[in-house]
Amino acid sequence: MELYLDTANIEHIKEVAALGFISGVTTNPSLLAKEDPKIDIKKRILEIHQLVGGHLSVEVNSLDTNGMLKEADEIISWFPEATIKIPMIPAGLAATKELYKKDIPTNVTLIFSPTQALAAANAGATYVSVFMGRLDDIAVDSYAVLNEIGEIWEKQCLDSSIIAASIRHPLHIIQAAKAGADISTVPYKVLMQSLQHPLTDKGVDAFVADYQKMMSMKK
Ligand code: G3P
Repeated sequence: MELYLDTANIEHIKEVAALGFISGVTTNPSLLAKEDPKIDIKKRILEIHQLVGGHLSVEVNSLDTNGMLKEADEIISWFPEATIKIPMIPAGLAATKELYKKDIPTNVTLIFSPTQALAAANAGATYVSVFMGRLDDIAVDSYAVLNEIGEIWEKQCLDSSIIAASIRHPLHIIQAAKAGADISTVPYKVLMQSLQHPLTDKGVDAFVADYQKMMSMKK
């Protein structure tokens, strides 16, 4: 399972991209607005693209198919490798199908059920983004939903890649991997938290102390 960073924050992207273990970034209008409501979206997206050569999902804001397709054209004119993020609404499915015909990658987002995921896959979505945290928020077991989608994907041999999104804690990352997600897109804080273990810190401290002891004896 690949790991993407779910953010529009440049400092966080710079820091994590340099570590070499993420292969993409996903953004959405809320993440961009959180940075600065007056943000220059094109400028920020191109900055992110320069920092992370891999996957970059950019969301459209229109709610009608033509508007989505117009926005997709604009985003592609910024950089041709863009993945167009489209909301899981009927108009979004039609836009996904049109972009599929033109070989433009899409990420259908705001998916909360296996039937939504299936519809997006049938419309030709390159990625389907299943929101874990927001399911848990309404007392629906996101791991069970993702497992069901993973099972269907395996039985039906579907091509769309499954992205586990709305990741709120490291356990979601583990559950996503166990459920067969291809990618987890993770906020900075959770991603950094997932790298830590107190026994690693304790072990590093002991190695450093022993090394320093050996060095001091050589003096
Ligand atoms: O990838 C989708 C994500 O940005 C939504 O996360 O925490 O707002 O549900 P959250």
